[in-house]
Amino acid sequence: MITYKEALEQVSRLAAVLVQHGVKKGDRIAIYMPMIPQAIYTMLACARIGAIHSLIFGGFASRELSTRINHAKPKLIVTSSFGIEPGRRVEYIPLLEKALKSAQYKPDKVIIYNRPNMERVHLTSGQELDWDGEVSAAQPHDCVPVTSNHPLYILYTSGTTGLPKGVVRTSGDYTVMLNWTMSKVYGIKPGEVWWAASDLGWVVGHSYICYGPLLHGNTTVLYEGKPVGTPNAGAYFRLLAEHGVVSMFTAPTALRAIRQQDFEAIHGRSYKFPRFRTLFVAGEHCDTSTLEWAKQVFRVPVLDHWWQTETGSPISATCVGLGNNLNPPIGQAGKPAPGYNVMILDKDLKEMNRNSLGNIVVKLPLPPGTLATLWENDKLFKELYFTKYPGYYDTMDAGYMDNDGYLYVMSRVDDVINVAGHRISAGSIEEAIITHQAVTDCAVVALEDSVKGHVPVALCVLRTGVTETFEELTEEIIKIVRDSIGPVAALRKVVFVPVLPKTRSGKTPRSTLSAVANGKPYQITTTIEDPRVFSEIEAILKQRKITS
Ligand code: COA
Ligand code: AMP
Repeated sequence: MITYKEALEQVSRLAAVLVQHGVKKGDRIAIYMPMIPQAIYTMLACARIGAIHSLIFGGFASRELSTRINHAKPKLIVTSSFGIEPGRRVEYIPLLEKALKSAQYKPDKVIIYNRPNMERVHLTSGQELDWDGEVSAAQPHDCVPVTSNHPLYILYTSGTTGLPKGVVRTSGDYTVMLNWTMSKVYGIKPGEVWWAASDLGWVVGHSYICYGPLLHGNTTVLYEGKPVGTPNAGAYFRLLAEHGVVSMFTAPTALRAIRQQDFEAIHGRSYKFPRFRTLFVAGEHCDTSTLEWAKQVFRVPVLDHWWQTETGSPISATCVGLGNNLNPPIGQAGKPAPGYNVMILDKDLKEMNRNSLGNIVVKLPLPPGTLATLWENDKLFKELYFTKYPGYYDTMDAGYMDNDGYLYVMSRVDDVINVAGHRISAGSIEEAIITHQAVTDCAVVALEDSVKGHVPVALCVLRTGVTETFEELTEEIIKIVRDSIGPVAALRKVVFVPVLPKTRSGKTPRSTLSAVANGKPYQITTTIEDPRVFSEIEAILKQRKITS
């Protein structure tokens, strides 16, 4: 347990360390750390002096890390000796050094937090700054005033374009929105214990592990563990009981993982959590059976709500603090949250009828707390989000609204694959795979998965004359993706096909291929060059038992 006073002491000393090493208002700091309090201290130390933090999820490997370093140009990087994943340690230093080696931009310094009672780690150059030594020698630094529209952080996210998409969040509006949502959306009172079981590397971690609960005077639970395997499927129940959590937030994939391993929730039965009132889920569509199961085992309302990195807080939700119905219809993700004028449009900007599937957009203006721009790319910001539907923010999600105004969010319109609640761009996996000397073309599509929601499957075309076996090639391709994007991309399935279908403009029709891979009915548009390719691929996928 860490008190606000203790946290303040650590944060203000670390702020002094950053300033001593030349960090000024507006400078960027990259944070590459596991789920430990020091990651939050670093975020808050940046906020204290007006530095802009960019936290990089620990499940990303060197290439993603170096792209972000090149783009954000951090003056300093703060990292840690290691993180803990089920059954293994995540060694941050080799990953960071590899990223720094390939990055054109080099930060001035690296601070390493060495986790206690373990051997110390060093950069190869031996020129790191040691967190403990620096922080203990520093005197607390006061807050540096900033304007309300000063950037607080950059958070990179995935999407169709190969360019880095660094969502910029500004300070004043964001803090107002977060503080408001803690009570009005989540129904939490100051002083209560709240748990967002996400990762600091994602928007939920920024908004509802770090800033939201702390602004609102709550205790926030920071959990370096998984729903299963650390050590068993009772972990969530244990934490709810031990910490008197009143409300929590998780991804449906985490609930599916518990359900798969412990359907009867036997591990959870030994825990009592009488203070627990509501379970919020987001990150992907929550299927009915998981939702119903969760209601039974957690014995509280389970409320799906819809989010994006870009928005920073829910776009649609059951707003507990506003007295919304805690037993909404199955499959919905709440009603538009105050400030969001959500509409469903067809491609000609015509509003769709209720219950008809279309593109989900938000009529401008957006509420406070949503993205201010994309880092150093106002042009891309405008093009991506505001061009296709002038006057609206394009969420790039598809769905519908029912007669009572509940929203149903069904799928992404772009190339994003939602893998275990992590947003991964199919295009970026393809980019990594194509670096293999034997692969001439590749398409990555989403395959339905009973735990992770979706997992990627790579359809690869090989150049002629390759002598390696498919097994060897598969292993190498998986390794390339792990080493460049990170293990979180979870690529396990690679299929070799003679050719990929192409539209006349040379694009690979990923959504049709995805339907083929999932054994769903598919339609071949007239723009496809050679429609017979689909049946060839279908036969190969069946043979490999990927399509049932
Ligand atoms: N640092 C380093 N590696 C990480 C990591 C991190 N922060 N997070 C994940 N990874 C690695 C894992 O160790 C795993 O590596 P492996 O292939 O060597 O085993 C790989 O990335 C895939 O991890 P994950 O997606 O977590 O899959 P899993 O099979 O280990 O666990 C779940 C499945 C469902 C338990 C897990 O995905 C989960 O808890 N998901 C919830 C996600 C979430 O909260 N998202 C936020 C949405 S708001
Ligand atoms: P991220 O920016 O990583 O938080 O991912 C945002 C995307 O996740 C959204 O655009 C949706 O595609 C998906 N998503 C988030 N929450 C939900 C939800 N409740 N239902 C369906 N999809 C969701």
